[in-house]
Amino acid sequence: MQTHEIRRRFLAHFERAGHTPVPSASLILDDPTLLFVNAGMVQFKPYFLGDAPPPYATATSIQKCVRTGDIENVGHTTRHNTFFQMAGNFSFGDYFKEGAIRHAWSLVTGSLEDGGFGFDPERIWVTVYENDDEAERLWQEIAGLPLERIQRRDGLDNYWDMGVPGPGGPCSEIYYDRGPEFGAEGGPVADEDRYLEIWNLVFMQDVRGDESPKYGAAPIGELPQKNIDTGLGVERVAFLLQGVDNVYETDLLRPTIDRVQELSGRSYDEGTPDDGVRFRVIADHIRTGAATCCAACCAASCATPACSASRSPCSPTSPPWCATRWGRHTPSWSPTSSASSRSCAPRRRRSSPR
Ligand code: ALA
Repeated sequence: MQTHEIRRRFLAHFERAGHTPVPSASLILDDPTLLFVNAGMVQFKPYFLGDAPPPYATATSIQKCVRTGDIENVGHTTRHNTFFQMAGNFSFGDYFKEGAIRHAWSLVTGSLEDGGFGFDPERIWVTVYENDDEAERLWQEIAGLPLERIQRRDGLDNYWDMGVPGPGGPCSEIYYDRGPEFGAEGGPVADEDRYLEIWNLVFMQDVRGDESPKYGAAPIGELPQKNIDTGLGVERVAFLLQGVDNVYETDLLRPTIDRVQELSGRSYDEGTPDDGVRFRVIADHIRTGAATCCAACCAASCATPACSASRSPCSPTSPPWCATRWGRHTPSWSPTSSASSRSCAPRRRRSSPR
């Protein structure tokens, strides 16, 4: 199944269940705590915190993400990209744990004919936060998972926040067992290469202070309502459904490896293990470079009339130059500013006759 079909099935599943599809936010958003958007929930942060009223009770998106913190793993593991697409469903005070688990289970194990991903339910494992009896019970009741395939983990693995003060909550992760040839028995706690995490369901309920509950601190408060924030790794699902060895050999990245083989005269499939790492790093970094460059160019030219016409409506986290419907953003320059005061080169080039 190609990547575009994985995205389509995800959005269709949640639209059928009444979620509003929301376009990916730009990688560069008006959040001083982040260099790049690193999760689907970022553009919805004001709704979780109660700083802005959500225009919909539930939403779904495929968000462009960059995680620079994973850069040292790229090329060495089967599963880390610096740029990746996170498919998510979000509830702003609507459904909570039960709904999130039902939606996820039916998509992951639903048949291909019915629009699901068709994963064998017998190969699915999940983890829950160490004291989350409710999630453990729901996985048994809804999915029929035996207790042996539900593992409890501490905050380091099963508490999610943005790495800074803000919304957070305990989470439950869904793993697929790739089989004994890929590592030790024993579930995700034993081997995260064999048991590949594909989806994280965050039960977004807390306000995190300076210290994270990931490391044992208590949350400093509760969010105004209980919410859901999930993230499914599109590239990871593609890697499994395409029967390849890792995220770099999927339909979106393998063509780059092939082109680098032609340019370099070296072989990916028959080369040394070190060359394999190099090919994978190049494929990953080229994509991340292209994505971040596009985001920066779009941000630089965002206030031009042409760019304004093509971009998504403003949100509470839109960049400062976005004309506002939220009342707290003011344009930092006007479309009549001199062209030399701001680089709009990409857009001018596109409109020039050749
Ligand atoms: N926000 C959660 C994550 O990034 C879903 O894993």
